[in-house]
Amino acid sequence: MNKLRVYVSSRALIVSTSVLLAMAGAVSGQTVKVTHEEADRRAEALLKKMTVEEKVGQLNQAAGIQIPGLGSEKPDDAIAKGQVGSVLWLYDVKELNRLQHIAVEKSRLHIPLIIGFDVIHGYRTVFPVPLAMASSWDPAVEEAAQHEAGRDARAAGIQWTFTPMVDIARDARWGRIVEGAGEDPYLGAAMAAAQVRGFQGESIGPDSVLACVKHFAGYGAAEGGRDYDSSYIPESLFRNVYLVPFHAAEKAGAATFMSAYMDLNDVPASGNRWLLHDILREEWGFKGFVVSDAFAVGNLETHGYARDPEDAAYKGITAGVNMDMASRTYIHNLPKLVASGKVTEAQLDASVLPILEAKYQLGLFDNAYVDESKVDAALSRPEGRNLERKLAARSMVLLKNDNHTLPLARNLKKVAVIGTLADSTKDIEGGWTVEGLFGGPSKSHPVTVLAGLKNKLGPNVQINYVEGGALSREYPSMIDTITGNKPLPPPTAAEAADWIVKAKAAATNSDVVVAVLGELSSMNGEGASRATLDLPGIQEQMLEAVAATGKPVVLVLENGRPLDIRWAAVHVPAILEAWYPGTEGGNAVADVLFGDVNPGGKLPVSWPRAAGQEPLYYNHNLTHEPEDRPNFTSRYWDLSTKPLYPFGYGLSYSTFKFANLRLSKDRIKAEEITEVQVDVTNTSAVAGDSVTQIYIHQRAGSASRPARQLKGFQRIALQPGETRTLKFRLGKDELNFWSPLTKAWGVEPGTFDVWAGEDSTAILHAELVVTE
Ligand code: NOJ
Repeated sequence: MNKLRVYVSSRALIVSTSVLLAMAGAVSGQTVKVTHEEADRRAEALLKKMTVEEKVGQLNQAAGIQIPGLGSEKPDDAIAKGQVGSVLWLYDVKELNRLQHIAVEKSRLHIPLIIGFDVIHGYRTVFPVPLAMASSWDPAVEEAAQHEAGRDARAAGIQWTFTPMVDIARDARWGRIVEGAGEDPYLGAAMAAAQVRGFQGESIGPDSVLACVKHFAGYGAAEGGRDYDSSYIPESLFRNVYLVPFHAAEKAGAATFMSAYMDLNDVPASGNRWLLHDILREEWGFKGFVVSDAFAVGNLETHGYARDPEDAAYKGITAGVNMDMASRTYIHNLPKLVASGKVTEAQLDASVLPILEAKYQLGLFDNAYVDESKVDAALSRPEGRNLERKLAARSMVLLKNDNHTLPLARNLKKVAVIGTLADSTKDIEGGWTVEGLFGGPSKSHPVTVLAGLKNKLGPNVQINYVEGGALSREYPSMIDTITGNKPLPPPTAAEAADWIVKAKAAATNSDVVVAVLGELSSMNGEGASRATLDLPGIQEQMLEAVAATGKPVVLVLENGRPLDIRWAAVHVPAILEAWYPGTEGGNAVADVLFGDVNPGGKLPVSWPRAAGQEPLYYNHNLTHEPEDRPNFTSRYWDLSTKPLYPFGYGLSYSTFKFANLRLSKDRIKAEEITEVQVDVTNTSAVAGDSVTQIYIHQRAGSASRPARQLKGFQRIALQPGETRTLKFRLGKDELNFWSPLTKAWGVEPGTFDVWAGEDSTAILHAELVVTE
């Protein structure tokens, strides 16, 4: 009982149901939440007892030994000496408990470890990849998924996840586009904050997992879409676009940030004091801690920014990186730097304190262990799988549906299923899965599309499945390199011809063809940029061959970035973007294809026609010679500048009408708010979800403003014939921008266009005038 403390949220003074839960925990002897202030007090008291070496130890994140090639040396001795504050790349629960025992029982001050892992989109039950979740345009979905992922992670001994990745990605060649919410700062901000809430809860406590907002910042703007390459981002673009989701995550209470790898305007992000100190701490008031990306402190030398490891340690810590992920640069060099006075003990203390505070808040000092006997049951909850199936279907985007090809009729007798990905359990969940990561055995038994169709159709429908050989890849992926996997060679010409004959035969002998095509999950993610966006291997040939049979073809895409599907967009009647839909993905695809779920997802990226259009994004500035003018236009000779499918686009089995766009006030002062209202009607005979989107454009100001900017969205379910009036607000938060002229945020008087509709080309228009 003496552990009972009243929980008061640090951000909002809300005494919630968590109080009751905390009280119940106290009564039953469990760990209870401590207030921020209490955590501070205890951390400061502990800090006073620590030697410089022990303090530096807290800043050292050691590699676990579960990832081949990334750490073969067991960290036992270092932990016992108090030289390790955190461990990553390890999820074996027995091993985690063993290491915690060493930290708590053998180290002089008994400081527990904080265990970090990339729990990106689920633990054992894997949710859709982040780009897919953003396609739901439903932050509550993302929050629910990450809450579930966090609960599982915590049950399995992980208290810190390197999620959310909130990097804006305007270039589909960049492989990590799959890990984020796409190109838009407004949608990205909503998804970022939702994920922080999902993992951390209302405030950090013994049930939370710390979120880590990454990669701070500008990583998605890598030149040419090449992962790790330098980013050059003007300050106005940086603040108005790239930083927006980071700031939203910070405001949502994110406990940690991860500094990015690359050079940002010639100063590596992990040694960039302007970014990590001036913006993050001074301007935004961030009180948590920053971890570098893996080896990034050491890499300050590789970048040609630091002279040697000692200089790298100096530049990292003075820039504002609290914890060194895996490079051991701090542990080897910081004690020397403190001894010589180059780094003061006060600087060191300031770096250590938030880490200790987080450990207190997480309840690790009370209980750092997990009950191994309960982990499997906790990770295999059916509720998690049910939620996964719903979210997966909610994340899918119907790109094309001519002649009502979808939903498919229930009375089909024979279905051809084509494609290597159709039955790949390795790919349906996408990359960055905890147990399947780096070649580990996936224990989730994922449902492929083939399996999902079989589940849906039962034994009386004949399924003619033709695989199609390996998907080719010129280079091994990062995961292949780490695990020593060799990518399978693509089919030879003779094998390819044989697959095509088989695919044609299957199509001819079926009522409908479901072609499941896309990319292996290892073709996107870290270190997996592409110069083309083609369908790899012989997939396009297979698709063309089955379409030539005249049978209706449904293309289901399983991929982590928009692909060049120009041929399919013309010749295939129905296209469903499923992304990597997760553990129950195959069932969810079947739900959508057969109309048990009406698709309502929308694209969080502009879908290019070809790689040569990249970077491609809707919120670009206006040009003096737009494409639709006769001469000297801003266009390619050989291709439109327009996307194949615009940002925000996605079809439904329902149709919607948007009408009566009106503003509560069409003239406001800069500090006032106007309410936008629009009526949305389901004009079809099928219930379905619409996503109403509000865009604005400022006609003139101290700087050119984007042609359009998303400033509101709502996903709602509408019954056939139902009309609802939706309300949005436009005020300072929506109308302001950071001006390169004034170097400040502000709402500038002038005229704004306002559009409402179902994608970024919406035409329903109103005008708003903002006065002084
Ligand atoms: C490198 C990746 O860039 C980052 O996203 C990840 O969280 C860390 N490694 C840890 O695995």
